[in-house]
Amino acid sequence: MCGIVGYIGEKQAAPILLDGLSKLEYRGYDSAGIAVNNQGEIQIRKSTGRLKVLSELTHDGAEMPGTMGIGHTRWATHGAPTDLNAHPHQNTDGSIVVVHNGIIENYIKLKQKLLTKGYQFASDTDTEVVAHLLDYYYSGDPMEAITKVMDRVDGSYALGIMFRDFPERFFAMRKDSPLIVGKGKDGNLIASDVPAILKYTRDVFYIQNEEIAVLKKDKITFFNIDQEEIEKEMHTVEWDVNAAEKGGYEHFMLKEMYEQPKAVRDTLEPRLSNGKVVIEELGMTDEEIRSINNIHIVACGSASYTGMCAKYIFEEMARIPAFVDVASEFRYRNPILRKGDLVIIISQSGETADSLAALREAKEKGAMTLAIVNVVGSSIAREADKVIYTWAGPEIAVATTKAFSTQLMAEYLLAIKFAEVRGTVSEEEVDDMIQDLKRLPDQIQMLLANRNHIQKFANRYIAARDVFFIGRGLDYALSMEGALKLKEISYIHAEAYAAGELKHGTISLVEDGTLVVAVLTQEALFKKTISNIQEVKSRGAFAMAVTVEGNTEIEKTADYVIYIPETNKYFTSSLALIPLQLFAYYVAVARGCDVDKPKNLAKSVTVE
Ligand code: F6R
Repeated sequence: MCGIVGYIGEKQAAPILLDGLSKLEYRGYDSAGIAVNNQGEIQIRKSTGRLKVLSELTHDGAEMPGTMGIGHTRWATHGAPTDLNAHPHQNTDGSIVVVHNGIIENYIKLKQKLLTKGYQFASDTDTEVVAHLLDYYYSGDPMEAITKVMDRVDGSYALGIMFRDFPERFFAMRKDSPLIVGKGKDGNLIASDVPAILKYTRDVFYIQNEEIAVLKKDKITFFNIDQEEIEKEMHTVEWDVNAAEKGGYEHFMLKEMYEQPKAVRDTLEPRLSNGKVVIEELGMTDEEIRSINNIHIVACGSASYTGMCAKYIFEEMARIPAFVDVASEFRYRNPILRKGDLVIIISQSGETADSLAALREAKEKGAMTLAIVNVVGSSIAREADKVIYTWAGPEIAVATTKAFSTQLMAEYLLAIKFAEVRGTVSEEEVDDMIQDLKRLPDQIQMLLANRNHIQKFANRYIAARDVFFIGRGLDYALSMEGALKLKEISYIHAEAYAAGELKHGTISLVEDGTLVVAVLTQEALFKKTISNIQEVKSRGAFAMAVTVEGNTEIEKTADYVIYIPETNKYFTSSLALIPLQLFAYYVAVARGCDVDKPKNLAKSVTVE
């Protein structure tokens, strides 16, 4: 949701900014822009469209000399995606330049005030208010102006700011929007996310809310909002540089699907010790685990669907009542949280605004909070009481794949741990489950190898108008993910239904040739879902089924069957997921869609 970068050092800034933005394009791609300060001369270039347009416009940055600059890739919130609304924004005489990720909630009030003071606005954005407000408060001391502005603006921001008067430093600050500072050998950087700076450094500082970083080519200093200097600890990022590159794959999404066996293994292995599940970072005593009354799982989008899977597993395996909410609802519905309630927030980015707000709401209500997060040091990871990291590595494609798989794995481990402590599973069952978990990465690999088969099938459905996904229990949760994957990247209308629910209305949309994808991995429910397949088939549907090896009975009903290998009933979602991902991917590719950057979407939704 908008990406910002900044660089100051020995090298030319523009190519580094463009390169950094290319790693952040998943955060927004309506327009892009960079500003370079060349010894007090600030040049700005910006354009609607993909970053490619800006690169061409600046001849890959060669046209913008200077060793300090800031850049932005935009996902429009306030103001249409136009050249004028693209960042960077500036004050009237161009001496203060700003890039911004977030939303200034009181911008209308501030804008009105600035208009009465004679300021004129060139764009419809909330960000331009920041540039003029800085101008209003600036009288030679940038820190003075910056801290006054931070005091006046409401909402969220990660800001990069350059002052023409200070060509040897730039400023960065954040509140509720992500921002990291990198300390490089030839210069220092800021970015919204790690992949943008990985090529230059692994040494990073995480800025907290309302902190300010001042970057010079050989020095970084940090201040709080009272302008007092503060010490910050440097962290080393473990991610592999290649992880943020396509590595020969046509799309990041395909590459990331292929990284699933490794990601799942990396999430599992550190939590197994002597044949037992050991989640050290959970830091809960057995007594605390035994006293959990309810689990509330809160997340957005796909992460909430892994949460739905977890609900079924926590309830059935560990016998703990579990409730799933999308974060945007949870945060505003004054949820009832009691002593002994555990709130689990699931997020790949760790920056999703609604999930972060839900976490804060849960903490305020006194619940114990546990985050399942992929990005180390992200806001949700920092603020939750406990964190379990999913070791998926950077996920670049907007549509999540490998993070989803690792979230499932983290949830299985948690459920086994809870079930073991609460005595709802036997030691033997735990041993069997662990053996099955260990087999999952190879089984995922095997399913990925089946891609050609699924591609052929997908090619038949590129003109589909509606696709319905049905399943029961865990399979219903996974159907939600199957439908979301298809609609978000192929733009085909897709919906998921609890299999028994379709006939309560939606079946009226089924007509000759409508594709219905049925997921049947739960043996106890096979017959029930087969009846539902028969119902849609008798209205003309074409039925694709994803089921477990051995359930050959299905061939009598479904038109096309994909088998997944046998595993424990709780873990089937990890396997049934793969054909659904591949199906969505190949339909989207065949339709010529921009798979990694679907229209209107951004990877990390840091605004409400
Ligand atoms: C869909 C997708 C989104 C995210 C959702 C939450 O493919 O990726 O639905 O799952 O925006 O994002 P995180 O997990 O970063 O909180």
